[in-house]
This record gives sequence, C-alpha cells and structure tokens, in this order.
Amino acid sequence: MQEQIDQYTSEINAFAPANAAELETFRIKFLGTKGIIKDLFDQFKNVGPEDKRIYGKVLNQFKQLAETKYAELKETFDSGLSTQASELDLTLPGEGFEVGSRHPLSLTRNEIIDIFKRLGFVVAEGPEIEDDWHNFSALNFPEEHPARDMQDTFFIKKNNGKDDIALRTHTSSVQVRMMENGKPPFRAIMPGRVYRNEAISARAHCFFHQVEGLYIDENVSFADLKQTLYHFVQELYGEGTKVRFRPSYFPFTEPSAEMDISCTICGGSGCNMCKYTGWVEILGCGMVDPNVLENCNIDSKKYTGFAFGMGIERITNLKYVIRDLRLFSENDVRFLKQFQTEII
Ligand code: DAH
Repeated sequence: MQEQIDQYTSEINAFAPANAAELETFRIKFLGTKGIIKDLFDQFKNVGPEDKRIYGKVLNQFKQLAETKYAELKETFDSGLSTQASELDLTLPGEGFEVGSRHPLSLTRNEIIDIFKRLGFVVAEGPEIEDDWHNFSALNFPEEHPARDMQDTFFIKKNNGKDDIALRTHTSSVQVRMMENGKPPFRAIMPGRVYRNEAISARAHCFFHQVEGLYIDENVSFADLKQTLYHFVQELYGEGTKVRFRPSYFPFTEPSAEMDISCTICGGSGCNMCKYTGWVEILGCGMVDPNVLENCNIDSKKYTGFAFGMGIERITNLKYVIRDLRLFSENDVRFLKQFQTEII
C-alpha cells in the first residue's frame, strides 16, 4: 500500500494539466466516488490493527495532497490565469484599445511654451477671477476706458459701489501679479483662459485662451522684442515666414505694435483666410509703459522691458485651417480625433 501511495504522490506532484478537461479527469481519477482515494480507504479497512495508526496518517496526508492540488489548479483555470490553456488562441487579434488625443488648443499651447522655454522663459499662471487693479488699473487703463464697460467684461462683484471683481479679460493681469511679487529680471510666458462678454459666433466667443509674454531687465529694447518674436514665428510656422509690425495702441505698452505674419495658408499671395491681403495679425506687443512698472514698484529708470499677448485659438486656426471658433468647445469627437498626433 505504501508503495502504491508513493507512486500516486509523484504522479500528483508532477501533474500539469493543459486544460480544464484534463483537470476534471484528474478529479474523477483520484477524488471521484469510485476514485483511487475511495479505493485506498476501502483497503484501509483490511489493515491490521497494529498498522492502522501509521497508515491512517499516510492516507490522510495523501488525500489532502490530492485535494489541495485540485483546488489550486481549479482556481487557476477559473480565473483564466492559466498560461498553458490550450483553448486560448493567441493568434486572435486583441481587443481594440481606444486612446484619447490632445485638444488642438493644448497642442498649440504646448508648442508655444516649448519655443519660449528654449529662449529661457519660465511659465507662470494667475487667477481667472481678477480684481480691477490687476486686470485694468495697474495696466494703465484710464478710468473711463471702454474696455471696462459691461459690454466687454463679465463683472462679478462691486466694491464700494464700483465694479471690481471680474472674470479676467486678458492674461496681461498675470504680468502685474508677477512684477508685484518678485524682483526683476523677469522672463516669463503666461498661458490661460480669458473671458469677454461677446455673443458666440464663428469668429467670437465668450471665453478663449491667450499666452502673455513678459521680459523685463536692464537695457531691454524694441530690437529684443522684434528678434524674440521673429524667432518665435520661424519656429512655429517654419523658416521663411515673414513678419511685419504695425503701430498700435494698448494702455500698458508704449510704443505698441501689432504683429502680422505672411499668410500661412497661401504664403502671401492672397486667400480668404487673409482676406486677400497676404498678411494675418497674430499678436499685440510693445515696450512696457513706465507707469505699469511704477504701479508694480519697479524702478522704470533702471528697468525696461517688452510684453506681448496672443490668442491661442487664432494661432491654432492658422496652423490647422480651422474657421469656426465654436469647434474648440463643442467637444465633437469627429473634430477632436483629427488631432491624434501626440499621445501622452
Ligand atoms: N492684452 C491684449 C489683449 O487682450 C493683448 C496684448 C497686447 C498683450 C499687447 C500684451 C501687449 O502684453 O503688450 O488684446
């Protein structure tokens, strides 16, 4: 009997079924109602009283071995963990795995950030809910400036009877926070969402995105501004893209300019994207007005600098030829899927 049990023990230890059917055969053979273990227990009845103690123990251990082995293997098959289950057809195609895509505005924003980072600019952010000081007054907006009108600004709260807290109308407010809270030199870009009280259409929206730039140090000149923005455009739209500066007005810069680039769609020959002029405007810029520096406790005799601000939607439209601003916020996957260029 001992010999038989030894033989079965090695058989059980070596047992490695390829599938659940083989395991079932094992169960019937050893643990079934007419199985080996039942048979051994039947034989045990005939063992002499002096051997009963020894064989009892051996038999019970053997039974336990068979039961444990079966339970372990069954669990493996039930949970589908078996590595040798031959019914698995490993040549079948796997289940499709849908990956998301970056929003086109994020792609553009990241690209803008990358270019300026290489020029030594850091990234800064500020709050979307702003007070009058940071959004307007510190930026040299005269008290009666039309941009403060209810028409343009979403005011949230009054202070002493006057409109004060609002959704920021531009990211220029972050310039003020940066200068107030630090010491020059400053070299930063500030991306973020801005809000204006506009009717939604293909060409206007009540919220959009901007990237603000600020560079303050000793001896910064308009030539630095031009060279920086020229380099930016070559990196973003490719070598050979032309730029031109037109005089303009912003309360917080003096002198101020708007920068146009040769139309990225037609290359300058004229199309409906550039209204047949060959040029498209992409940003506002200028030398930071000394009043703004003084408002932020920066010595305007010692420091000068430039600032610029651009709309991320506009830059994206020119890059991908998108003609309707509403597409950016409607979240239509058929639109978003087209930008599956850069995952993670
Ligand atoms: N804040 C301006 C706007 O929203 C854009 C701008 C123009 C920002 C000139 C600047 C600048 O920093 O220098 O239209």
